[in-house]
Amino acid sequence: VIDIRNLYSEGGVFTFDPGYTSTGSCESAITYIDGDKGELLYRGYPIEQLADKSNFLEVAYLLLYGELPTAAQLEDFVGRVTNHTMLHEQMSYFFRGFRRDAHPMAIVCGTMGAMAAFYHDSTDINDAWQREVATIRMIAKMPTIVAWAYKYSVGQPFVYPRNSLDYASNFLNMCFSVPTGEYVVNPILSRAMDRIFTLHADHEQNASTSTVRLASSSGANPFACIAAGVACLWGPAHGGANEACLRMLRQIGTPDRIPEFIAKAKDKDDPFRLMGFGHRVYKNFDPRAKVMKQSADEVLGLLGIENNPTLQVAKELERIALEDEYFVEKKLYPNVDFYSGIILDAMGFPTSMFTPIFALARTVGWISQWKEMLEDPHLKIGRPRQLYTGPTQRDYVEVEDR
Ligand code: ACO
Repeated sequence: VIDIRNLYSEGGVFTFDPGYTSTGSCESAITYIDGDKGELLYRGYPIEQLADKSNFLEVAYLLLYGELPTAAQLEDFVGRVTNHTMLHEQMSYFFRGFRRDAHPMAIVCGTMGAMAAFYHDSTDINDAWQREVATIRMIAKMPTIVAWAYKYSVGQPFVYPRNSLDYASNFLNMCFSVPTGEYVVNPILSRAMDRIFTLHADHEQNASTSTVRLASSSGANPFACIAAGVACLWGPAHGGANEACLRMLRQIGTPDRIPEFIAKAKDKDDPFRLMGFGHRVYKNFDPRAKVMKQSADEVLGLLGIENNPTLQVAKELERIALEDEYFVEKKLYPNVDFYSGIILDAMGFPTSMFTPIFALARTVGWISQWKEMLEDPHLKIGRPRQLYTGPTQRDYVEVEDR
């Protein structure tokens, strides 16, 4: 690692690194990834252990405050989150301003940004108490925002949070219960949902997290910064890959068509890529994909749809790609998005909801990174340099002379 801080101001030179493949933007003690080994640790704890033994709110506490909570600390934290699950009633009218066919990510992005207009007492980033209230509010309200974006898109009435339910069950209830029926959250589905949240909670300096850090480096309010993260996550090369992946698996349809799609992905004249494959950092299996695959088997088994054709195509695609020279040589392995869509689809979510659910979970990581950054006494505004390739100075030409 070469520390090149102030290289430009001291020597008049700067590094050129498009895509930041070799540039560290910050110091962080939150998440560790060893891309060659396929290892992911939150505050030192392996993701597999957390997915198996912990739960999302405990993981949220760990990411935010650095240590696993004691029983009393966890109870207090869960209590505070639960206290803030309601959205300001006026915000329900904000949802109603959108077209019914709006993508839920557009609604989530807009609504998260709009929270700054509703919660004035938690926008001052220089006040530690306000930062803490904003943290709890965003974690608590994100499930309500995402569930309401869904309810709005299907033309059903909003379901208010039920504080007797745990975080994941409350989210499922707000998505799937209707005033005319009895909806009881299946504990196995709730556990699978919670695990999806845990697996997506943080992933160090990815595009959306870096966006949150860059936005907050200007001193912007917390809701604006997290809305910026939501916007960045939407792209198909990042969080939007889960939606694109399920669409691709359905398009493949049957295992016999897999070679055709593998050939397309290898063709350099074709922009098509195998969605859910490859990662900037992992050059080995994404450890989250392994847990997700196991979870997909459990959930589909529980629902009695283990012969689901999409799952069969996914497994066969994974098998063929992992034996293919192109994918082996380029170290392209399934990433977290490869199996998550299959689980969410089996739970009854439309593909447009996959990325909002990712955003819900990642909110915890974004906020943890935002908090860490604001607590750094050496905080500087993020301001990359550029390699200018435009014209040299020239004189303005009057329109009649052009
Ligand atoms: N299918 C086919 N070829 C691929 C794929 C893929 N999914 N991913 C990478 N490659 C190839 C590229 O064409 C490139 O080939 P080349 O060296 O011959 O030009 C090489 O592998 C390296 O790819 P880059 O795009 O340079 O790698 P980068 O680190 O910039 O991109 C990314 C990583 C964006 C994830 C990429 O692998 C991709 O587009 N994957 C599909 C989308 C996806 O699943 N995204 C989710 C990422 S995980 C997340 O955000 C939660």
